[in-house]
Amino acid sequence: MKLDTKKFEKEIKDKVGTKRYDHMLRVSKEAKSLAKIYEEDEDKAEIAGYFHDCAKLKDKSEIPSLCQKIDFEITDEMKKAPSIIHSFLGAVLAEKLYDIHDEDILNAISWHTTGRPNMSTLEKIVFLADYIEPGRDYPEAKKARTLAYKNLDKAMEYALNQNILNLIDSNKYIAMESVNARNYYLEINR
Ligand SMILES: [Fe+2]
Ligand SMILES: [Fe+2]
Repeated sequence: MKLDTKKFEKEIKDKVGTKRYDHMLRVSKEAKSLAKIYEEDEDKAEIAGYFHDCAKLKDKSEIPSLCQKIDFEITDEMKKAPSIIHSFLGAVLAEKLYDIHDEDILNAISWHTTGRPNMSTLEKIVFLADYIEPGRDYPEAKKARTLAYKNLDKAMEYALNQNILNLIDSNKYIAMESVNARNYYLEINR
């Protein structure tokens, strides 16, 4: 399965806006190059990276009606941590609207914000590509980038730690899955 961005460009750009769309293209490219290093399927990485933010709508007020349309339920955990909604919603959109049925790709989209314990190589690649793509200008991205091209699990531990630190700094709710993921990578890297 090859990614044909022309097929989706207009529709997705309308949904997420040009800036977000360009980020999705950069994540797609970054995921592809990580896949090459780690001998993962490059086409799948490219596809998962491309669609990972397809539910990050520029107009947030459209989210409830979209959820209703595709029968997507927002859980209590999602209500407390709204920034995770677009990941799970994105996987459902990718399947229902963009005809992607590969389990690993859909999981990589679902878990790209929180992470989870024992992620597949593709899931880690998309999570990290999102964190390190060249448009990321925070200093942590540089360190995560070096780590990501050396050791995916160490890079996961670092990126999850940074995400949690940022959530604490801004006094936001931390989704349980982020904590579980962070503890998992902390332990396996010991
Ligand atoms: Fe995202
Ligand atoms: Fe993203």
